[in-house]
Amino acid sequence: MAKNYKRYLITAALPYANGPVHIGHLAGVYVPADIYVRYLRLKGEDVLFICGSDEHGVPITIKARQEKVSPQDIVNKYHNIIKKSFEDFGISFSIYSRTTSKIHYQTASDFFRTLYDKGEFIEKTTSQYYDEEVGQFLADRYIIGTCPQCGNDSAYGDQCERCGTSLNPTDLINPRSMLSGSKPVMKDTFHWFLPLDKYEKDLRKWILEDHKDWKPNVYGQCKSWLDAGLQPRAVSRDLDWGIPVPVDGAEGKVLYVWFDAPIGYISATRELTEDWEKYWKSDDSRLIHFIGKDNIVFHCIIFPAMLKTHGGYVLPDNVPANEFLNLEGDKISTSRNWAVWLHEYLEEFKDKQDVLRYVLCATMPEARDNDFTWKDFQARNNNELVAILGNFVNRTLVLTQKYFEGRVPEQGSLEEYDRQTLTEIGNLKQVVEENLEQFRFREALKAGMDVARLGNKYLADTEPWKLIKTDAERVKTILHVSLQISANLAIIMEPFLPFTTAKLADYLSIEKLCWEDAGHTNLLKAGDVLKKPGLLFEKIEDEVIEKQLKKLQKIREQKNGKSMPDVKPQKENVSYDNFSTMDIRTATVLEAARVPKTDKLMQLRLNTGIDERTVISGIAEYFKPEDLVGKQVCLLANLEPRMIKGIPSHGMILLAEDADGRLVLVTPENGVANGSEVK
Ligand code: 2FM
Ligand code: ZN
Repeated sequence: MAKNYKRYLITAALPYANGPVHIGHLAGVYVPADIYVRYLRLKGEDVLFICGSDEHGVPITIKARQEKVSPQDIVNKYHNIIKKSFEDFGISFSIYSRTTSKIHYQTASDFFRTLYDKGEFIEKTTSQYYDEEVGQFLADRYIIGTCPQCGNDSAYGDQCERCGTSLNPTDLINPRSMLSGSKPVMKDTFHWFLPLDKYEKDLRKWILEDHKDWKPNVYGQCKSWLDAGLQPRAVSRDLDWGIPVPVDGAEGKVLYVWFDAPIGYISATRELTEDWEKYWKSDDSRLIHFIGKDNIVFHCIIFPAMLKTHGGYVLPDNVPANEFLNLEGDKISTSRNWAVWLHEYLEEFKDKQDVLRYVLCATMPEARDNDFTWKDFQARNNNELVAILGNFVNRTLVLTQKYFEGRVPEQGSLEEYDRQTLTEIGNLKQVVEENLEQFRFREALKAGMDVARLGNKYLADTEPWKLIKTDAERVKTILHVSLQISANLAIIMEPFLPFTTAKLADYLSIEKLCWEDAGHTNLLKAGDVLKKPGLLFEKIEDEVIEKQLKKLQKIREQKNGKSMPDVKPQKENVSYDNFSTMDIRTATVLEAARVPKTDKLMQLRLNTGIDERTVISGIAEYFKPEDLVGKQVCLLANLEPRMIKGIPSHGMILLAEDADGRLVLVTPENGVANGSEVK
């Protein structure tokens, strides 16, 4: 860091308030940000730590539709759950705000308006999908259809979740609106675009030349965006949930969520302090964004472009984005419930927040995606936290109680080994510091734990429990040294393990922790009275881990079974009267034959109990004719007759889609008389 910064503005990505937070969020963004902030605070720096809920955008409206409540209800619910999880895990925000706050509406609207008044936007009309039944333009996520790559008929307008291809809505075959199921039409609409192409040259220099210090994963992603060439990006949307575009003639248009969300960092700071401009508008403020890799382009390219265009704001000095954390070898997925949710973790592992913080820091996906496993969680708890840190501190404190009634003994005369050990604390503190400054949290944690390893080795080598019988004076020195190591641990490990170090500081009766004290070996004075200690960590037994693994196993089974993937949201309610107009009957297949010159169609002759009739069904890909004959099916009998490939079809047989997208017959369980009503 070449510059002499006077204050820090640390932001952590605003999570979408459409679900609770999980270990992936914590490992990727909030644990590293919190460690860094706690370290800065210990150093006495002036630092604000800003976060809040991201409450706009399509994911919120989709969730609201699924749960049949308003978007405001959704964000209220999840904002509170998320906020509590962060508090529970000791994520020490200066403020946790939200983007539906009044001050945010004001700040984001003013920001847009400033750019608008400066003539920075391009206004453009484009053609987009529109649902005529509902009277709404459709966000990409609201359009589903068949993926042109893999044939998945539930691909979204922006991506096919089966084959991973990223799509434009117009790529979909047979597009349907998720709102009404109807076929959308193309309709003109106009929006405001931020001409990113105009800023490309400046951004190239600012990132690729001036910020070679950014992490390789961040720098690399920026470079490939810039090399591909920047295009103007729409900053408004046709939606009824969001901040209205603050210009005349913009009815029905709101700010794009990625335009308003990062401004949320500014509004939250305004909400927190009247001094907000000092943090956002002085050159000697250091702005750092902690985010996950999917947010890189927004924080490194788009938001800086917005800030530059507006003028007056500092730009981020660093954006230490992490990659993703997987769970037991699979991508964490909210929709498939493949996650360890923070509120659920605490139900099982009460008061073990630091264990999770520790494991997530030790396995942080800093340079590449990484995997969380319950076995590793157990091993790190038992073999590292319990066996190294907990064991060292416990032995030191218990022996001090036993031999010296809980008073810090005199240092006495130091031997060479004592001196070396004490010097090593200062060296390790230095290593922690250098790594934290470079956002290398795993290395920093390892160096912090090396202080406990040092202590353990010191006790094992000096064996005070043996010496006490022959040389009580020497034992005084040994425990004095061990207590100084423990006091150092209370400081050095605070950013990583704030709950544990608070306990440790309490046992040692240390009141104020301060980073500059670490490395010193006079943190405790002879005669200081210590409290009776408890255990810092407990062993985690196999049964506890088995239970978590079983829980995941169950989810995997559901996923591999039929219920979980790609379940479409429920359609609008229908009245019973409407439903009862449908006449569904059981029927038996008498004959089956493929319709010539088609791949999909099968001609069936059915005994419906009412009559014998012909039905054409699109199942030829999935069945051989001989497999169908004799099978009982359910038939929508009063569907208007239709001509299909020149053959009249009298009804439609009911089919269900299995996990692989194949169609299977819906068949009565034990066989019933043909013509039985299905109701
Ligand atoms: O990816 C996300 O979860 C976004 N809600 C992050 C927004 S960060 C910021 F810009 F607000
Ligand atoms: Zn696909």
